[in-house]
Amino acid sequence: AAAEKGGYDYFMLKEIAEQPEALASTLSGHLHDGRIVLDEQRLSDQDLRDVDKVFVVACGTAYHAGLIAKYAIEHWTRLPVEVELASEFRYRDPVLDRSTLVVAISQSGETADTLEAVRHAKDQKARVLAICNTNGAQIPRESDAVLYTHAGPEIGVASTKCFLAQIAAAYMVGLALAQAVGTKYQDEVVREFEALEETPAAVAKVLEQMEPVRELARSFASSDTVLFLGRHVGYPVALEGALKLKELAYIHAEGFAAGELKHGPIALIEDGLPVIVVMPSPTGRALLHSKMVSNIREIQARGAATIVIAEPDDEAAAAVADHLIPIPATPTLLQPLVSTVPLQVFAATVAQSRGYDVDKPRNLAKSVTVE
Ligand code: G6P
Repeated sequence: AAAEKGGYDYFMLKEIAEQPEALASTLSGHLHDGRIVLDEQRLSDQDLRDVDKVFVVACGTAYHAGLIAKYAIEHWTRLPVEVELASEFRYRDPVLDRSTLVVAISQSGETADTLEAVRHAKDQKARVLAICNTNGAQIPRESDAVLYTHAGPEIGVASTKCFLAQIAAAYMVGLALAQAVGTKYQDEVVREFEALEETPAAVAKVLEQMEPVRELARSFASSDTVLFLGRHVGYPVALEGALKLKELAYIHAEGFAAGELKHGPIALIEDGLPVIVVMPSPTGRALLHSKMVSNIREIQARGAATIVIAEPDDEAAAAVADHLIPIPATPTLLQPLVSTVPLQVFAATVAQSRGYDVDKPRNLAKSVTVE
């Protein structure tokens, strides 16, 4: 087993390290003659052209990948995108018809709620596209189209490399759809795809800089509560950072949209409370960035210990950071692929310092095939 872990103490740590390859293999071969190609396509081009609404359904970490993808898919396709927990979607009465595309994201392809959401969508005549890491699993078998993530087997119960691969795959679905509905020309699709192809190297760079994050995690390992703040695509990243910390370290952790601070979360801030902030790029979205700086000032003034994930030349962020975690400059929509990594490392290190098995957190299963 030690050999299988490739020198790491836990599979999860190995899987975190494998993220550049997981991303690269997921992207590989999907741009063909200037077009994005899926793996299985039982839908006609006309079916895709007719799509007028998108739902993304998933559970757990895969749901967070969907929340992130919404920003890109809406931006690129101009189609409305709703992201829903599969367990909510299937018991509601969502408005679906043959021009609805339901994108089901699942690492295992066997999650009970996601599978039932797919079945419900199909009953209502919606088209279903699966993003899955497991060849021939039930969800892709029952879907009209499939895009596989090629992250390789994921043993750690808490999803890491599959999460990054799911984001990349969902972005490719967004580009394929933009091409089909005509909101993006071929050269634009190629440009977006090429930007995606640069992310494995960016993730590799982040991975090289994780020792200070591990130190920081050890110093906060006895915290009772950790809060996470983000805006735009950084908001679902904050949710994922909080989920990882709950799953692995059994610490009360919550992610918030920074704009909601004044509507409740700021009441939680007290002296020394660690708050991890995912900073938007200062170049990409200047307004988002300046709003975030003022949010950090507000919590810092109330005693929070601010841990800020930001680009290295972001001086405004550095000025309000008690602790700074640098990440390479990345286009806004792609930032989650790099900003998630320190949060995974943070959670895993806190869990290890507390003496927990990060591969097998208590009460959790890798794949939830019963409700
Ligand atoms: C479980 C796992 C999570 C995973 C979720 C959805 O809760 O512990 O890591 O995100 O199931 O699994 P799926 O296989 O559908 O992606």
